[in-house]
Amino acid sequence: MNAEMPQIPPRLHSVEVAIRKMEKEDLPGVLEIERLSFRTPWTETLFLEELETPFCNSLVAVVEGLVRGSIHFAIVLDEIHLRNVAVHPSFKRRGIATRLMEEMIERSMKKGAFLCFLEVRYSNRQAISLYRKFGFTRKGIRPLYYSDTNEDAVIMAADFSGLGAGRA
Ligand SMILES: CC(C)(COP(=O)(O)OP(=O)(O)OC[C@H]1O[C@@H](n2cnc3c(N)ncnc32)[C@H](O)[C@@H]1OP(=O)(O)O)[C@@H](O)C(=O)NCCC(=O)NCCS
Repeated sequence: MNAEMPQIPPRLHSVEVAIRKMEKEDLPGVLEIERLSFRTPWTETLFLEELETPFCNSLVAVVEGLVRGSIHFAIVLDEIHLRNVAVHPSFKRRGIATRLMEEMIERSMKKGAFLCFLEVRYSNRQAISLYRKFGFTRKGIRPLYYSDTNEDAVIMAADFSGLGAGRA
């Protein structure tokens, strides 16, 4: 094994997760996860706008009554735009993002949307690995997309139409 290769932390035992629509009351929990997860976190205003925009969808993952993850996506005609997904650092590697992604796909397909697009930081190997698991492939690069670090974005897309209704 190459000693310089970053190690993938082992998968931990899964936890009982309930996925539901995000409500305003979930904001403190979602904001905390956001601040712990990102260099340039979304603001409270942005999350509130998201909740008030009809084509935007926000779901939370709840473990033992507390918000431990969230996913935010827009549905426009047959397209899904995955805008944000994050899991509390203490609850990573327990399948929570997987459950959030599955729920996004299921809910989107029920509304007739099955083509999904996203941008992800070039260096974000956890997220890229997660997306690949769901069939996303690389479609291009947006150079210097992230102004805080001048990092490139990888554009990824997936077509869920082959999954059929009821998958996920
Ligand atoms: C990316 C992220 C959402 C994954 O959440 P998670 O709940 O830990 O993910 P899961 O436990 O469901 O793992 C699903 C898959 O993600 C990938 N993955 C998750 N953590 C990983 C890690 N540390 N290293 C490599 N791959 C990883 C794996 O492919 C994993 O599948 P496996 O368990 O079969 O190996 C989480 O690491 C996170 O919140 N990161 C910070 C925020 C972020 O970067 N969001 C994405 C950009 S918007």
